[in-house]
Amino acid sequence: MKIELEQNFLANYNRNSDAVYFTPGRINLIGEHIDYNGGLVMPCAITLGTWVAIASNNDGKFRFKSLNFETRVEVESNKIHNKNGSLWANYPIGIINEFLKDGKEINGFDFLFFGNIPIGSGLSSSASIEIATAFALNDYLNLGYDKLELVKIAKKVENDFIGLNSGIMDQFAVAVGEKDKAIVLDCETLKYKMVDVALGKYSLAIINTNKPRELADSKYNERVAECQEALRLLNEEITLHNLCELNAEKFALHSHLIHDETILNRATHVVKENDRVHLAAKALNNGNLEEFGRLMYASHKSLKELYEVSGDELDAVVDFCLTYDHVIGARMTGAGFGGCAIALLERGYEEDFAKHLTAYYVGKIGYPAAIYISEIGDGPTRL
Ligand code: GLA
Repeated sequence: MKIELEQNFLANYNRNSDAVYFTPGRINLIGEHIDYNGGLVMPCAITLGTWVAIASNNDGKFRFKSLNFETRVEVESNKIHNKNGSLWANYPIGIINEFLKDGKEINGFDFLFFGNIPIGSGLSSSASIEIATAFALNDYLNLGYDKLELVKIAKKVENDFIGLNSGIMDQFAVAVGEKDKAIVLDCETLKYKMVDVALGKYSLAIINTNKPRELADSKYNERVAECQEALRLLNEEITLHNLCELNAEKFALHSHLIHDETILNRATHVVKENDRVHLAAKALNNGNLEEFGRLMYASHKSLKELYEVSGDELDAVVDFCLTYDHVIGARMTGAGFGGCAIALLERGYEEDFAKHLTAYYVGKIGYPAAIYISEIGDGPTRL
């Protein structure tokens, strides 16, 4: 891929690139929609990701081209604080804007991106392009940020520049991920542990529903607001910074403060999902994959019924998995509203699973899903 990117860079910009970098996407094993509630999450970086070739220029301009899109975007450095009409380019633009605001001297740069993460599929193509840009410029120009600072800058871009009130999980996962490890991340303290993902006779299948995530951002921000409302109500009786400070037992003592059924459902999901991640971390440590799988199914049920971020397509995938003997756990991963599910699938059954899932899914939904066997990969690297 490096050579291909270098050749394309030359073809696009009539000169050679200075360096090429790779940054992964991510899946989340369990702990969904709780990062912005100070919860525990368990993401892993994957081997799908974003490549970027860069070269500095002396024109005082930033140029962005992606092999995935037709548009080529050019921005003068004094206009970098403006959002661009082309959505994908706003991620790198937002990062550069933050670096400049922080007083870093960056004159002009040419970028060429390529990504093989399906866009809008819940595998964090946006966090990947944000961290790809941030990591590359930081490394190439020796800007002096550590990884956690880059993660926080990328989250700020997502929240303030793009307008999605997301938590920190995605940026953290793609920046910190390691091969064959899950990150058990406490989103309140940002303390984390790397845990071996030893799946024995199982592998992780990623199933892309191929459903476009319509209105996903506004629904996401609506969920964030609903959690804030639950927190406000609970604070009438106790002092809490985050919903995940409560476990299910303690929550039951105060949940009478929430009268609205929807808000109660949202908070119940958050609190119980956080409890499930604690159990899942133990199960993974003890090599108890059956228990891990049960928790995955329970997580999906809660996201479907209480948090209402699943949908017919994701439910069809998980419903099929529940009937398939060689899968021991499955759930949606990421924000939901379409996108991807993950499944713990017994090795050797990949083809059989794909065949039967496809028949079931097409029958229910009308078009096929895509299935990848994923590997857990490393965080950002210079190639
Ligand atoms: C998106 C957000 C994350 C997280 C997940 C849901 O991926 O970017 O911060 O909230 O949804 O767990």
